[in-house]
Amino acid sequence: MFNLYCLLSKPAAAGFSSRSLTAKAKTAVVMLNMGGPQHVNQVHDYLHRIMTDRDMMQLPFQNTLGPYIARRRTPEVQKKYAEIGGGSPILKWTNIQGKLLCEKLDKISPSTAPHKHYIAFRYVDPLTEKTFDEIEMDGVKRVVLFSQYPQYSCATSGSSFNAIYSYFQKNQFPNDVKMSVIDRWPTHPLLIKAIGSRISDEIKKFPETERDNVVILFSAHSLPLKAVNRGDAYPSEVSSTVHAVMEELGYVYPYALVWQSKVGPLPWLGPFTDDALKGYVKQGKKHFILVPIAFVNEHIETLHELDIEYCKELGEELGIKNIRRAAAPNDHPLFIDAIADIVLQHLRDVKPVGPKFLLRCAHCTSDRCYKSKQWFSKICRSA
Ligand code: FES
Repeated sequence: MFNLYCLLSKPAAAGFSSRSLTAKAKTAVVMLNMGGPQHVNQVHDYLHRIMTDRDMMQLPFQNTLGPYIARRRTPEVQKKYAEIGGGSPILKWTNIQGKLLCEKLDKISPSTAPHKHYIAFRYVDPLTEKTFDEIEMDGVKRVVLFSQYPQYSCATSGSSFNAIYSYFQKNQFPNDVKMSVIDRWPTHPLLIKAIGSRISDEIKKFPETERDNVVILFSAHSLPLKAVNRGDAYPSEVSSTVHAVMEELGYVYPYALVWQSKVGPLPWLGPFTDDALKGYVKQGKKHFILVPIAFVNEHIETLHELDIEYCKELGEELGIKNIRRAAAPNDHPLFIDAIADIVLQHLRDVKPVGPKFLLRCAHCTSDRCYKSKQWFSKICRSA
C-alpha cells in the first residue's frame, strides 16, 4: 500500500515549500506527530490506523475490534471534521512551523545548513514510512527526529518512535547516516513564553474589572489510568509545563490542570474539562480561559471539542458569562524561536539520545518498546 515515494507528487501533496524543493538538504529535521485527516474521506483510514496501533491503545482482540470501532465511529467523526471546515489543519501548521524553523536554522546554524523539514505523521499522509523513503532518496546524512509533542507519552511520541524502529526493521539503516532524537521539551523557556503570551492575549479581552477572577483551565488530552499506572511520563511532564507557564505569569490567576477527550468505558485520568467547568460554575466562577497545553497547533480537539462543545455549547448551557480559548502556539514568533533553539542546542549537543528516552515505563511489558529502545540506543550512539 505504501510503496516508493513519488518525488513529483509528494511535496505538493504535503505542502512542502519551494525552498525545500530546491535546496539540497544537509540536515533533515523530521517533525513527528499523529496528524489529522485533511478531508472527511480520510477519516476512516485515520481511525483504523489509530485503533489498530497497540502503542496508542491496547484493546482485546484488537485486530477485529479496532477496525470495527473505526468503522462505527467514522460517520460521527466525519461530522465533527465537517463542522470545523472539512479537515484538520495540523499538516498546514506543521508545514508553516517547519518552513520557519528551517529558515531560522539556516541563519543561526550555518555549519549544518541547509536544513529541510520533513513531516512524519503516524495516522495520515505524510506517513512515517513514506517520509523515510523520501529522506533516503534525498540522500540526507544528518537526521534529527523531532517529536512535536512537548510532553512525552508512550501512546503518542512513543508510537512515532516505534514506527521508525519498525520501518528500519524492513529497510536497512544506512551506515553513513547520523540520526538523533529530540523526545521531549515540556519546559523550554521560549515554549513557556509563547503559551504565556497566548494566555495574556486572551486575558486582555476580558473586562478589566474581571481579569483577576478569570480561571485558567489548562486542558490536555487525557489517557487511560492503566497507562498512568504503567509509568507513562506524560501527566508529570504536562504538569511541569503548567507550572512553568504559571510562573511566567506570576501565579496571579487561579488555575487548574484538566483533561479532555476521554473515549471508551475504562477509567481515564481526570478531572475532565467539561466536568471541571461544571464544578467551577457550581462554585460561582463565571470567567474562564481554556488553554490547550499539550499540542502545538490547532486540531480537532481545540477547534471542535474546546471551541464548539465546551466554549459554545456547554458555556451556554451553564450560563457562563465569559469563556474564551487561548490559541495553540501555531506560528507564534516565540514558538518558532523555541523550536529553533531546541534543534540548535541539540545539534551542538554531543548526546544523540537522552537517557530518559531509553528508560522504559516501570511496568512496560511491550516487547516492541524493549526492542525499539535497544535499537535507538545502538543507532544513535554512532551519531
Ligand atoms: Fe512506556 Fe513501553 S509502555 S516504554
